[in-house]
Amino acid sequence: MTILVTGSAGFIGANLVLRLLDSAEPLHVVGLDNLNSYYDPSLKEYRLDQIQQKAKSQQTIAGHL
Ligand SMILES: NC(=O)c1ccc[n+]([C@@H]2O[C@H](COP(=O)([O-])OP(=O)(O)OC[C@H]3O[C@@H](n4cnc5c(N)ncnc54)[C@H](O)[C@@H]3O)[C@@H](O)[C@H]2O)c1
Repeated sequence: MTILVTGSAGFIGANLVLRLLDSAEPLHVVGLDNLNSYYDPSLKEYRLDQIQQKAKSQQTIAGHL
């Protein structure tokens, strides 16, 4: 199953992706985030690094919804 998580570099989205990657189900998680500067973008990069370390196959698309 493939799951699209919008706002995946944000507080809720990044935590949701990390939880989904812990699932026993073989999920393909795709994140979408425009990495805007409403909150510090470096915090978003940090969250994306955490996700990348957990699952090399996880895909994040930088783009607008
Ligand atoms: N954090 C909370 O306690 C809380 C509580 C209730 C509701 N919410 C709502 O949940 C949503 C997420 O909250 P959050 O705390 O994770 O916010 P956040 O700002 O940390 O994350 C939102 C993410 O969405 C991205 N984004 C914004 N517009 C986008 C667009 N057009 N296309 C692609 N990406 C886009 C941003 O870059 C950001 O990384 C918000 O709508 C917020 O109002 C949050």
